[in-house]
Amino acid sequence: MHPVFAATSERGIPIWFVHGGNAETVLAGFGERERNFAKAAGFEPKPGRLLLIPAQDGKLAGVLFGLERPGDAIDAFRPGALVNLLPAGTYRFANDPHDVRLAALAFATGAYQFTRYRKAETRKIKLALPKGVDGDEASRIAEGVALARDLINTPANDLGPDELEAAARKLADQHGAKIQVTSGDKLAKEFPLIHAVGMGSPRAPRLIDITWGKEKDPKVTLVGKGVCFDTGGLDIKPSSGMLNMKKDMGGAATVLGLAHMIMAGKMKLRLRVLIPAVENSVSGKSFRPRDIFNSRKGLTVEIGNTDAEGRLILADALALASEDKPALLADFATLTGAARVALGTQLPAMFTDDDKLAADISKAGLAENDPVWRLPLWQPYEAQLDSKAADINNVGSDGMAGSITAALFLKKFVDAPSWVHLDIFAWTPSARPGRPEGGELMAARALYAVLVERYG
Ligand code: BES
Ligand code: MN
Ligand code: ZN
Repeated sequence: MHPVFAATSERGIPIWFVHGGNAETVLAGFGERERNFAKAAGFEPKPGRLLLIPAQDGKLAGVLFGLERPGDAIDAFRPGALVNLLPAGTYRFANDPHDVRLAALAFATGAYQFTRYRKAETRKIKLALPKGVDGDEASRIAEGVALARDLINTPANDLGPDELEAAARKLADQHGAKIQVTSGDKLAKEFPLIHAVGMGSPRAPRLIDITWGKEKDPKVTLVGKGVCFDTGGLDIKPSSGMLNMKKDMGGAATVLGLAHMIMAGKMKLRLRVLIPAVENSVSGKSFRPRDIFNSRKGLTVEIGNTDAEGRLILADALALASEDKPALLADFATLTGAARVALGTQLPAMFTDDDKLAADISKAGLAENDPVWRLPLWQPYEAQLDSKAADINNVGSDGMAGSITAALFLKKFVDAPSWVHLDIFAWTPSARPGRPEGGELMAARALYAVLVERYG
């Protein structure tokens, strides 16, 4: 069980959730002394407001915490802010927040700290599991989230393709999964695009392939972009654009986190996780603008821009994924700045031709507080990817609709009945409840909920 959770039976200091709609009723149930204190302290039942109520002896008697009024836009994670606000102790929910399950989960995800390079701030808060909340499930999800965040937050000097492979091996071992890694000459021959992108770095490119579960169960394949650092290559990024590119393996981190949830939950499916792991570096061995490479699928690709490297490595991984016809194929990638321009940092862009899957993920995203927004695989824009010398160019010719042309590029390499591409930011720029600043698992809890629904 996650360290933030205590048994339901533990008595704990009560947390009262109050908002414009219930504050009067809640306060009416308090003694006069407490009511007077709340008034004297000027407490207002507004989102995020906190009041610590003392007992006669000066100990903490209870906590008032403001939420959104029902009907307003609700952040179901808001109660998770309490892990950073409350003094040490064990707490319990005295009444229900808007979503009890997500409130409890937000305690666990909000308690996350990246401690690899400096000591954690001491924080000793526990939450007695609210009745009806599955603590094991919440723990599995929080562990998957923490795994993804740790990998994203780790800087590229300590997380190259080698270390990403080691993380994948560790996860595979932990769950009795099989793992295969292709590199060197074999990679160059079988996955020309992964090799091309990775060859500028002394840290060798590779394809990581994890399989788990019974062969007869429905096949679900996850592909994650594993660019351990993206300089842009010879089309080098300006420093502002490069600054945060340690997170360019956010897709890989996300699929590993999601794989943890699936395997720990013993879900009834045949899981495959593919991670093309590379560093997009600048050197005399780097691939160049106008280079032309073959791909695993057999399409030749002209390089219009070496900074559009994610789609190249994903293309070969998606081609491999398509070869054994999974029932569901999902890729996660920090693929384009354009997706951020369109939807901002909080909303991953989702691309799929499967309307049912789109509806299911959209709905689950809202229900799980892990929202995504669908953008179209607008076929007429495919012409943007025409090349005069090869079958396809890796960038669009006019720079418009960049996240769509990137998705259309990927689609050229996919042959599967149900494929979804998630263009994620994988980063929380400034902390929000349940979401500390830094690396973040995005869109994967939404997909996880869909998988639970479909495969139990
Ligand atoms: N990793 C970047 C995309 C990115 C940048 C994601 C910033 C999140 C935040 C990707 O490899 C990239 O550089 N894409 C280019 C594509 C362009 C050259 C067609 C982009 O989006 O500018
Ligand atoms: Mn790039
Ligand atoms: Zn990139």
